[in-house]
Amino acid sequence: MFAIKVENLTKKFDENTAVDNISFEIESGEVFGLLGPNGAGKTTTLSMLSTILKPTSGTATVNGTNILADPDGVRKSIGIVFQDQSLDEELTAYENMDFHGRLYRIPKEVRQPKIKELLELVGLEDRKNDIVKTFSGGMRRRLEIARGLLHKPKVLFLDEPTLGLDPQTRNHLWEYIKKLNSDKGITIILTTHYMDEADKLCDRVAIIDKGKIIAMDTSQKLKDRIGGDVITIKSNDSDKLTSKLSAPWIKRVEKHDGFVTVHLENAEKHVIDIVNIANKEKLEIGAISIHKPTLEDVFLHFTGRTIREEEASTKESMRMHRRMWRR
Ligand SMILES: Nc1ncnc2c1ncn2[C@@H]1O[C@H](COP(=O)(O)OP(=O)(O)OP(=O)(O)O)[C@@H](O)[C@H]1O
Ligand SMILES: [Mg+2]
Repeated sequence: MFAIKVENLTKKFDENTAVDNISFEIESGEVFGLLGPNGAGKTTTLSMLSTILKPTSGTATVNGTNILADPDGVRKSIGIVFQDQSLDEELTAYENMDFHGRLYRIPKEVRQPKIKELLELVGLEDRKNDIVKTFSGGMRRRLEIARGLLHKPKVLFLDEPTLGLDPQTRNHLWEYIKKLNSDKGITIILTTHYMDEADKLCDRVAIIDKGKIIAMDTSQKLKDRIGGDVITIKSNDSDKLTSKLSAPWIKRVEKHDGFVTVHLENAEKHVIDIVNIANKEKLEIGAISIHKPTLEDVFLHFTGRTIREEEASTKESMRMHRRMWRR
């Protein structure tokens, strides 16, 4: 059975189409990723599937329940961890969990052992009586995930689960998420703009841009579609370099924010040819690298743009800022 089936889902905010007629299915037990840049429509998609936002048109079923016909039914069978932190800073980890459990009317005798089990699962059992204010970003995230699981959802929605966390903490969190999926069989749909996250964590990835799904498959198959090798060059005149790069061994050339990307086979052999072309045209090369296609190359291939890292860092600092304000 499908855990989630999305049919022509669309959300418009006035003139702005945030989610544009998307359809996809997620199998029970899958970890499914929505990968895309800022404003792509990831959060809006999750909000519609979790019945927080009403679609403009289209529909979806979650665990066999239709989001329009029975939103309460959907909510009972899902856990949600949203992009913005929603823990109570002044309460302890246990109290945050307990409060959530009461909201869902989970009886005390079920609630207490379940909270213990989940805090153990995310490695926070020994901090359960500490107030959240004293927690690191990664610990807060883990607590939010544990809380989202309290009412035993079949599907867990994670909106940018590792945004703003350092690489080590992100790795740690990935392990927890994987464990949830493999040990508890929970279907997971997550959003991210981190390529490595989509790569490591997701069985399948839908790349979303401007409200549309532009490609969907396993990460490996998406990369295989690009094929061959990639050489990325930073030059002082990327327009001119692009125009001069034509040879039988070049499959495709793409230009994007000061970089030129060349798709080809046997990159090691041809990198010298590219340097020679640049020299002949008196073009400076600031940097040059050879790699196998990444999801970034897949995104570039379909959109002509990159999922920019600076976008991510702006957002992270905004998030940090908001968090500081809240204190
Ligand atoms: N409540 C709202 N009212 C008006 N416009 C909205 C609202 N929520 C989202 N949008 C717009 O819809 C588009 C998609 O936003 P969404 O938050 O889904 O993007 P996202 O992919 O989650 O981006 P990010 O990576 O920044 O979280 C954006 O253009 C955004 O400005
Ligand atoms: Mg978002």
